[in-house]
Amino acid sequence: MEAVARSAIARAYAPYSRFPVAAAILFADGQVLAGVNVENASYPLSLCAERAAVAVGVTGGHGAVHAVLVLTDTAEPTTPCGGCRQVLAEHGAPEVPVRSVTLQGRTAEHRLGALLPEAFRSDSLLRRNPHPPRDVW
Ligand code: THU
Repeated sequence: MEAVARSAIARAYAPYSRFPVAAAILFADGQVLAGVNVENASYPLSLCAERAAVAVGVTGGHGAVHAVLVLTDTAEPTTPCGGCRQVLAEHGAPEVPVRSVTLQGRTAEHRLGALLPEAFRSDSLLRRNPHPPRDVW
């Protein structure tokens, strides 16, 4: 997985933050696919590497997320941002390992469930109390 991320990080599009990130995800079908951050001049539209990798996997029909690696050119390993934790939790079980690696080889590893405890998931939606549909007309 690390080799896949290492070959992708040069393609990160991060001219604004100059903080390139590559993510490699192992999917249920055994494929390891990369994503990089893709920034935009309209800053909030920027896409994180982890979400880019999830989109690649979903688009190709590769199944659930089984492992995640995040590669950054930093002094210390970088863990996924809060939004990416939420997106990863939609596609991966709490036991999924998330390994954060620096270009220099520093490593940290966490479980997805530890990065996002008490996650809001699709089954959370089932807990809503019933409301009659509102007639807006
Ligand atoms: N970024 C990621 O791609 N993944 C992370 O886990 C943290 C942040 C990106 C977003 C933005 O392009 C840049 O890093 C700086 O925030």
